Amino acid sequence: MQVWKEFQEKNKDRFLEELLEMLRIPSVSADTTHKDDVRACAEMVRQRLLEAGADQAALHETKGYPIVYGEKIVGPDAPTILVYGHYDVQPPDPLELWKSAPFEPAIRDGKIYARGACDDKGQFYMHVKALETMTKTDTVACNVKFMIEGEEEVGSQHLEDFVRENKALLKADVVLISDTSMISMEHPSLETGLRGLAYLEVEITGPNRDLHSGVYGGAVANPIQALSEMIASLHDQDNRVTIPGFYDAVDALSEQERKQLNEAPFDEKAYKADLGVKALWGEKGYTTLERTGIRPTLEVNGIWGGYTGEGAKTVLPAKAFAKISMRLVPHQKSREIEKLFTDHFTSIAPDGVSVKVTALHGGEAAVTPTDSIAYQAAGKAIEATFGKRPIPTRGGGSIPIVALFEEVLEIKSVLMGFGLDNDNLHSPNEKYDLFNFYKGIETIPYFHQYFAEMSQ
Ligand code: BES
Ligand code: MN
Ligand code: MN
Repeated sequence: MQVWKEFQEKNKDRFLEELLEMLRIPSVSADTTHKDDVRACAEMVRQRLLEAGADQAALHETKGYPIVYGEKIVGPDAPTILVYGHYDVQPPDPLELWKSAPFEPAIRDGKIYARGACDDKGQFYMHVKALETMTKTDTVACNVKFMIEGEEEVGSQHLEDFVRENKALLKADVVLISDTSMISMEHPSLETGLRGLAYLEVEITGPNRDLHSGVYGGAVANPIQALSEMIASLHDQDNRVTIPGFYDAVDALSEQERKQLNEAPFDEKAYKADLGVKALWGEKGYTTLERTGIRPTLEVNGIWGGYTGEGAKTVLPAKAFAKISMRLVPHQKSREIEKLFTDHFTSIAPDGVSVKVTALHGGEAAVTPTDSIAYQAAGKAIEATFGKRPIPTRGGGSIPIVALFEEVLEIKSVLMGFGLDNDNLHSPNEKYDLFNFYKGIETIPYFHQYFAEMSQ
């Protein structure tokens, strides 16, 4: 619509300035030294929602960080869109690998570099600016509710209670989320599924204290050695996960579905070059798109133990640790997988060490229907601004709250993400292209318009 374009063109520098200001707040939910920053960010989100024309916006306290809820209601006959996003970000380390400081956003090459630029401040903020576009041009077509949380990156511990206790407040016809990626700006896509997650920490204990490796080495099991062997055995020669029962619930896709999934453009050479690897790796019999989209996987996220300081210290350590996560696909239940892992991991420990497994957090996979009005409206909106129908894809990441919305609120989600897989989410030099930011702001009002029209 011409009025939207004019308004956005006129205000585009301000939109960006506002985002940069939010990116300067180090709202790292995992790090309690940033407690005040996380809260300050919530307050800024509330303020910005009001400025954008929300009728009301408030912080809802939880046992953790507050949830920002705001809404613009136009009438009982209009359909309602619930926008979900998160204002918390991942820790920025390793700091030395950033070309510019993570909380001093810098623009290089048409890209915003900052922690949270894409995940998820840059993305949820597009919805705030889309709301402003519609309120200021008097074109709001749907009721819109915002629920922006501050604990997504640490497992959304307190969101579940909030959702269960506020069913009426959150009543909506669709949940709209921009917290995923597109294939590329030339190939816009919509994710139709997210994987689930089970995340655990393991602790291997050997002797009751660190030992002299000359005096005791060779006579006592080394926990790091034991842990390494145990981890190595979690995949077989075909790179399949060896935990008994791990694949039992996995939904096998039909040949037709697999064929469609693999029709999405994928440039293996560019993918490898971007990552600096000579070869790809994964479960035998599946393509890369399948390995990251429809197959469950197991990753070691971190491993530590023994002496890691400067120089050499001859020691046989008492303990070794690792953080291990599994990405899950529909029908695999996070809790059941936690149990399968724990039983198996405990059973493979060699004599002479003991194992402790602690589950950290998890969530269920989700698939979104492609025959819904909301999905069709999203497709039309993207077509209106990109000139192309989006390609349906399966994303590898997890947003556990999506399954919860389905269960508790009985609302399906549309994953209209504008990020790119190489935006360095959770990595140094996270970025978000200005093009994507503005394209999102441009596309979202079309979604509102088409969703209202198609819901009639
Ligand atoms: N926005 C991501 C999830 C994502 C990224 C989905 C890219 C699809 C494509 C989200 O903030 C995230 O990082 N989720 C975590 C899970 C959470 C429980 C910590 C993840 O996927 O590791
Ligand atoms: Mn995110
Ligand atoms: Mn994230």
